[in-house]
Amino acid sequence: MISGRTVRVERADGVVTITVDRPSALNALSRQVLTELADAFTDLDAAGSTGVILTGAGGRAFIAGADISEMLDMTPDEGAAFGALGQRVTELIEAAPVPVIAAVHGYALGGGCEMALACDFRYASADAVFGQPEVALGLIPGYGATVRLPRLVGPGIARELLFTGRRIDAAEALRIGLVNAVFDTRDALLAAARATLDEIARQSPEAVAIAKSTLRAVDGVPTPAALEIERAGFRRAFTTDDMREGTRAFLDKRRPDFAGRRSNTGPAARES
Ligand code: CAA
Repeated sequence: MISGRTVRVERADGVVTITVDRPSALNALSRQVLTELADAFTDLDAAGSTGVILTGAGGRAFIAGADISEMLDMTPDEGAAFGALGQRVTELIEAAPVPVIAAVHGYALGGGCEMALACDFRYASADAVFGQPEVALGLIPGYGATVRLPRLVGPGIARELLFTGRRIDAAEALRIGLVNAVFDTRDALLAAARATLDEIARQSPEAVAIAKSTLRAVDGVPTPAALEIERAGFRRAFTTDDMREGTRAFLDKRRPDFAGRRSNTGPAARES
């Protein structure tokens, strides 16, 4: 029984920060948290925003997994529905029209690691701990790790992590490609995520959106069909004002002025 909201959505300088805010349970994913996360990603107003940072509140965890106390008495059908709810959140994250970065500090275990896996990429602070410990509970991952973890780190390493339930530190996560970069502190982690979204903000928003949807559409598709999907995305880029502006600006030796680009504050605006 939880009162109050468990997910915070804040917008600053075009960046939407979605924070799981249930630190007393290390941000464990209850039905309420998952429902609020689904709402946050469904209601995401991408217009004018560069991207999303997904993070956890408190000093100890990104997300310590699905809520174990809620799962204890679930029937198989209720368990399946709980899995479907978490999977829906991961699909909404993947479908977000702007890039989503997971900023991981502390524990990212089980369903928490799976939320991070659904993001476009992951940054971590040095205290981050990753793992898929479900087998210790008599469970398997339910929010996509059997699918997304092997794609990211390879089938052998994914199997080792899933079968042992072993926890790995940030340095190991970096080594296996689970995270893109590791930062000394949580503040540095969040600053780096914002800086990367600022860097993205200097590009064509239409091209970034097409790149993201194309990468998603080709996932798991055999090469000839995947290349056809890429061709369709490439074609779509030719229909955009951004493409005309970007190529013309290059030839004019000036900075492009992309119509949908965020222009309120931050380095992107100052450098324009
Ligand atoms: N679900 C529910 N509550 C959780 C939780 C979880 N996943 N993780 C932590 N908590 C709660 C604890 O019960 C505790 O609550 P109380 O203070 O009321 O007792 C509080 O958060 C703090 O946790 P600990 O006292 O356990 O803190 P610790 O420092 O001793 O250990 C930890 C930290 C190693 C992360 C430990 O909490 C832990 O192992 N948590 C569970 C991790 C896990 O197994 N995650 C996978 C869940 S299954 C899953 O996610 C399935 C799926 O794929 C969808």
